[in-house]
Amino acid sequence: MHKIGRNDPCWCGSMKKYKNCHQAFDEKLEHFRMQGLEVPEHRLIKTPAQIEKIRESAKVNIAVLDEVADKIRIGMSTEDIDRIVYETTTKMGAIPAPLNYEGFPRSVCTSINEEVCHGIPSPDIILKDGDIINVDCSTILDGYFSDSSRMFCLGNVSEEKRKLVQVVKECVKLGLEEVKPWGFLGDMSQAVFDHATANGYSVVRNIGGHGVGLEFHEDPWVGYIFQRGTQMMMVPGMMFTIEPMVNMGSHKIVVDKQNGWTVRTKDHKPSAQWEIQVLVTEDGHEVISY
Ligand code: MF3
Ligand code: CO
Repeated sequence: MHKIGRNDPCWCGSMKKYKNCHQAFDEKLEHFRMQGLEVPEHRLIKTPAQIEKIRESAKVNIAVLDEVADKIRIGMSTEDIDRIVYETTTKMGAIPAPLNYEGFPRSVCTSINEEVCHGIPSPDIILKDGDIINVDCSTILDGYFSDSSRMFCLGNVSEEKRKLVQVVKECVKLGLEEVKPWGFLGDMSQAVFDHATANGYSVVRNIGGHGVGLEFHEDPWVGYIFQRGTQMMMVPGMMFTIEPMVNMGSHKIVVDKQNGWTVRTKDHKPSAQWEIQVLVTEDGHEVISY
C-alpha cells in the first residue's frame, strides 16, 4: 500500500482529506493483511460515484430480465430470448455484455435442464413443456457492468426439478444473508454449500462468481465450496456476484467440444443457477442486480 499524506485527497475520489475519509479504513485493512488474511486492493473498492453508475446499468439489466420473464413461452426458441435481450438492452441505450465477449456469439446465455451455464441461443433450440432454463443477462451502460440471472420453469415441470430450482434460490438468499463488512467470502460460500448439500445436491466447483462493476469479470473469483472464515474479507464498496451452479447429481461438468462454450453436467442430470450482484455496504449489503 503506497503512502498518502493525512491531508492529501483520499484515493476514493471523495475530494475529502484522507484523514477524514478512508485512512482509518486502510489501517484496518492493513491490520488484517498483517494477520495473513486476504483483503481487497483499492481497485476493488467502488466509490459512491461508481456505485451510482453501476446501479444505473443494473436498472437496465433488471428491466431486460423482467421483459424476458414477461415474454418467455413454451414453443419459443432461445434465439427469440436473445432477440428480446438485444432489443430491450439497446433500446435503453446499453450494450449486452456477452455479445462478442471472448468470442461469445450472442447477447445472453440460455442454459436448459442439464446445461449448467453458457448455453448459446439458437433458432434450433425450442423451449418445451417441463424445461427449466437459466437466462443470464449482463449489461454495459456508459462502461459500467451489471450481471444477474434467473431460472424459469416452463409448463409442467417435475416436482424434483422444481425443488432444485427452489433450493438454489434459497442458497443464494442464505449466502446473501452472510454478506456484511469484515466477514469472509467463505461465510457466504459455506451457507450456499451447506443448503445445497443438505438437500442432496452437489455444487459446481471450478466455475463461480466474480467481482463486477468496472469490468465484466474482476477479482475476486467467488466459489461456493469454501468454508466459513476463509477466502477474501468482505469490505464496504466491494461488489461481486453470488451465482452458484447446483447439480441434482454429480458436481462433474463437461464443456461442449463443438462450440467451446456450453457447459453440461457429466451425468446429464439437471442443474440450476440463480445470480445476483451484491454490494457490501457499511452495515450489510445491497442487492444491485437480480
Ligand atoms: N454472465 C456470465 C457470468 O455470470 C458470464 C457469461 S460469459 C459469456 O459471469 F461470454 F458467456 F457471456
Ligand atoms: Co456472473
